[in-house]
Amino acid sequence: MAILITGIGELTTNDPELGRPRDAAVVLDGERIAWVGPAVRAPAADERFDAEGRAALPGWVDSHTHLVFAGDRTAEFADRMAGKPYQAGGIATTVAATRAAGDAELAANLRRHVDEAARQGTTCLETKTGYGLSVPDEVRSARIAATVADEVTFLGAHLVPPGADPESYVDLVRGRMLDEVAQFVRWVDVFCERGAFDEAQCERVLRAGIARGLGARVHGNQLGHGPGVQLAVRVGAASVDHCSYLDEADLAALSGSDTVATLLPACDLSTRQPLAPARRLLDAGVVIALATNANPGSSYTTSMNFCVATAVLQMGLSVEEAVWAATAGGARALRRDDVGVIRVGARADLQVLDAPSVTHLAYRPGVPLTWRVWQRGRAVLSRFVVEEGAFATDHP
Ligand code: NIG
Repeated sequence: MAILITGIGELTTNDPELGRPRDAAVVLDGERIAWVGPAVRAPAADERFDAEGRAALPGWVDSHTHLVFAGDRTAEFADRMAGKPYQAGGIATTVAATRAAGDAELAANLRRHVDEAARQGTTCLETKTGYGLSVPDEVRSARIAATVADEVTFLGAHLVPPGADPESYVDLVRGRMLDEVAQFVRWVDVFCERGAFDEAQCERVLRAGIARGLGARVHGNQLGHGPGVQLAVRVGAASVDHCSYLDEADLAALSGSDTVATLLPACDLSTRQPLAPARRLLDAGVVIALATNANPGSSYTTSMNFCVATAVLQMGLSVEEAVWAATAGGARALRRDDVGVIRVGARADLQVLDAPSVTHLAYRPGVPLTWRVWQRGRAVLSRFVVEEGAFATDHP
């Protein structure tokens, strides 16, 4: 069935030839975009939807989440806000809760968060294992993730499980664990940080994943300066994520590479780390992505709108740069060209804001501007409408 979305006041396409046309229309046909152009020349379709001058853009591509988990870390968050530093070891709390949960509980929790993200305009989402840290728990995390997420990443090297010997655990991750998980995942990731895994351990895991045909990703330079960025570039990782602490050599390595710097502003704020140097990265010619890092420990939000607003208000990006990073940038970090863009043949993932331009994402921070969302051509958000006068009172 073809749907004509017309009356688009401002259309962000991320396609260099199409640009950002005004008074535009888009036709979604099944799971693909079938036509893009001026509203006055739009072809007929089975259904017609009038955006009445609102802004439309690609659905968000959230290229970094950790949503296969159980349990809650509210108390840890409260302690942090009272001044206690974030530490990698907090992951163990979620590992214990995740191991204790049944498959149905894990799947329902994942689905609930993915639905929450979709209602806020996220139409393509990556998620990771990493709260199982045993062969059976990592395998079931990957299996459950693969039923819901667009992209699944194996993060056995998230933390050395309490009581395990680090070197033996690395051997398990790059050996039997990888063998059993590989069928469910496209990516291998490592947490290269003090308190997690060192450079040599990370490289062994990444090289083993690459040898199995997986793409590489790295968590690096999150809690202090470290070797994560250089390692990511060296192994040809699609993305190095966090990047809060970078030196000039890191910027130079990234700018001459195919590795995207994925910035996670909600995590920086929630862990009281400095916001990643987005402006310096862009000025150095590095491709950046913005993602939520949704997880119960360091960044418990699924809101890409929040990340975009923060990138503009506090990280020195223009709205256009931030929107690109949260759509096409996320696609680049996942090495995909079918999402994060509105052009003929791309996946029919599109959101309409209750605003005339994307500028409102930063101009009106915190306001729920997501108005309509289509994912693979299917409407996932039909916004509820408050009856006119519902909030009227009889008071004079
Ligand atoms: O990206 N850095 C490692 N992993 C997550 C944190 C997960 C947690 O604290 O539970 C992150 O911030």
